[in-house]
Amino acid sequence: MSGEQVVLGVCGSPRKGGTDYAVRYALQRLEENYRVSTRYFSVRGKTIHFCVHCDYCIKKKRGCIHQDDLQDLYPLMEEASVWILGSPVYHGHVSAQLKAVLDRTRALFAMRPRAISGKLGAGIAAGGDRNGGQETVLGTIADFYLINGMFPVGGGAFGANWGGSIWTADRGSEGTAEDAEGLRSIRRTVDKLARASGLASS
Ligand SMILES: Cc1cc2nc3c(=O)[nH]c(=O)nc-3n(C[C@H](O)[C@H](O)[C@H](O)COP(=O)(O)O)c2cc1C
Repeated sequence: MSGEQVVLGVCGSPRKGGTDYAVRYALQRLEENYRVSTRYFSVRGKTIHFCVHCDYCIKKKRGCIHQDDLQDLYPLMEEASVWILGSPVYHGHVSAQLKAVLDRTRALFAMRPRAISGKLGAGIAAGGDRNGGQETVLGTIADFYLINGMFPVGGGAFGANWGGSIWTADRGSEGTAEDAEGLRSIRRTVDKLARASGLASS
C-alpha cells in the first residue's frame, strides 16, 4: 500500500479519564509499531448538538445545519482509512456524546453516500464495573460500522473478541493503566486492525 494511512481515534467521554487514556494508548501503539499517522478527537469540552432530523443535510447536501465543534471532526472522518471509536459505559450503553457523534455522521453520507464506506473500524469500551456493559457498547459501535458500510474489526478470541474492553474500577486513567488484561485487549485489537488494513505485513 502506498502512502501513509491515517487512523482516527474518537473519545466519547466528557472527561480526561479511562476512555481518553485507552484511545490514546491504542493510537500510540499504532504510531510506535506501524507506519501510520494518527488523529485524535475528544468530545470533552466540545459543543456537539443532537441530530434533530431536520433533513437539512438530505435536502441541501451541504453538511449539517449545526455549525458546532463537530465541523472539525467531519474532515478527519473522511481522511482516515481506519477508525477507533471509544466510549465510556453509561447505563450499559455508549455515552450520549458518542451517540450524538454517530447520529450526526448522517450529514456526511447525505453529501457523499460513500464518504466513509469501506473503512475499517474498531471499538474500545471503558466501564466502571468489570462486566458493566462493555460488550453492549462494542456491539453498538460494530453496528454503526456495519450499517454504514464499514468493516468492524475485533481483537480475536481469548481476550479481545469484540475489541478493547477496559475495567476502570471507576478510577479513570489510573484504573485503566492498572487493568493489564484490558490493555492487552486493546493491543490485540490494534494489531488485528493493523493486519486487516495492510499496515502490518502479516
Ligand atoms: C451516567 C453514568 C452511567 C454509568 N453506567 C455504567 C454502567 O452501566 N456500567 C459500568 O460499568 N459503569 C458505568 N458507569 C461508570 C463509568 O463507565 C466509568 O467510571 C468509566 O471509567 C467512565 O469513563 P471515563 O473514565 O472515560 O470517564 C457510569 C458512569 C456514569 C457517569
